[in-house]
Amino acid sequence: MSKMYRGKEIFKPLNTGWIDERVACVREWVANIFFYRKGDSVIMIDAGYNYDRLEEKMGWLGLDPKAIKHILITHQDTDHVGAVEADSLGLLAARQNIKLDYGILGSSDLDQASKLTAKLQTELFLPLIYPFVRSGSCKIYNLDFPEVIKVRNELLPAGEREENVPCDLNDTAWFERIDASGGAVFFAAGVFYYFLKEQVRSLVCKMADAFPGGVLVFDAANKKAVKLMLKTWIKDAQIKDVGAYFAVADAYFAVADAKAGLSPWDERLSVSSRGYMLGYNDLTDPSVSGFFRFLSRVGDNSMNMQIVKLKFGK
Ligand SMILES: C[S@@+](CC[C@H](N)C(=O)[O-])C[C@H]1O[C@@H](n2cnc3c(N)ncnc32)[C@H](O)[C@@H]1O
Repeated sequence: MSKMYRGKEIFKPLNTGWIDERVACVREWVANIFFYRKGDSVIMIDAGYNYDRLEEKMGWLGLDPKAIKHILITHQDTDHVGAVEADSLGLLAARQNIKLDYGILGSSDLDQASKLTAKLQTELFLPLIYPFVRSGSCKIYNLDFPEVIKVRNELLPAGEREENVPCDLNDTAWFERIDASGGAVFFAAGVFYYFLKEQVRSLVCKMADAFPGGVLVFDAANKKAVKLMLKTWIKDAQIKDVGAYFAVADAYFAVADAKAGLSPWDERLSVSSRGYMLGYNDLTDPSVSGFFRFLSRVGDNSMNMQIVKLKFGK
C-alpha cells in the first residue's frame, strides 16, 4: 500500500457475525465477505481473497456453503474476487453452479476513503496491475529488506499471486526466488531514494536480463527533492559528518524526466511515468483542499515526484 494511506485506517473490517436477521459477514484479515439470507437462499456479496477458513466461519453463522447460488461481486479488487478467479483452489471454485453477478458499487475499496484515493487506486494501480493479474498467471512482488518484509507480512499479508520478497536489492540473490514465466510486476516503493544512480542502473539492467517481459514500478523525484530528503534523513539519523555525506549527494539516484533520463540505460527498456499526484488526480475535484492542491503542484512540478514504470522488452 502506498505511503499516503499508512495509518489512515482505510480498512475497518467488521468481525464475523450477524448484523441483523438477514445480513451476516465473515471477516478475512482486513476484508469482509457479506451474506444476505432470505428463506433458504443465501446471496454472497464478494468472495474474499480465497480464504481457507471461509467454510469454517460460515459454519459459525449457521450458513451452508451449498445454499449459495449467487455471488454479487461489487468490484474487482483481489480481496473481493480472489476466491472466484479461475485458478483458485478454495471452497467456491468447487461449486461450479454458483452464478456470478457483477455490481457497479465502486471501483475499489479506496472509494470508501475519499474520491482522491479512489481515483489514485482506479487510475494508477488497477490499469497497471489488472492486465497482468487477469491473465491468471502474473505474479506481483513487493521488494524490501527482510526486516521490513517481516513487518509487512504481519500487517499486510500478501494477496493472491502476490509475494513480499525479502531482499537486498544490491545483491541479485533474490532473483532465484522469482518465477516470471507468467509475467511479473515488481514494486520498489520508496526505495530508490536511498540508492546511488549507479546502483539503480545496475539493478535495472540485471532485471532486464533476468525478467524479459517483466515490469518494475517505483517512485522517483528530481535532484532538488532527493537532496531535501537526504537532509531530513541525515538529521533524523543524527549523522554529524554532514559534509562528507553531501559530497556524494549528486551520485544519488534522481531523475526529472524518466523517459529521457532512463531510456538510454538499456535499449530493452520502455519507460513511462506520471506525476505522483497530478498524474492520477483531478485537482478540480471539490474534495481537494487548497493546501493539497498546493502540495501536489510543488511535489509534481517543482520536485518532479513521479511514479515510473519500466517494462523490460523480450
Ligand atoms: C520509504 S521506505 C518504503 C517502505 C516500503 N517499501 C513500503 O512499501 O511500505 C524505504 C524502504 O527502502 C528499503 N530499502 C533501502 N535500501 C534497500 C535495499 N538495498 N534493498 C531493499 N530495500 C531497501 C528500506 O528498508 C525501506 O523500507
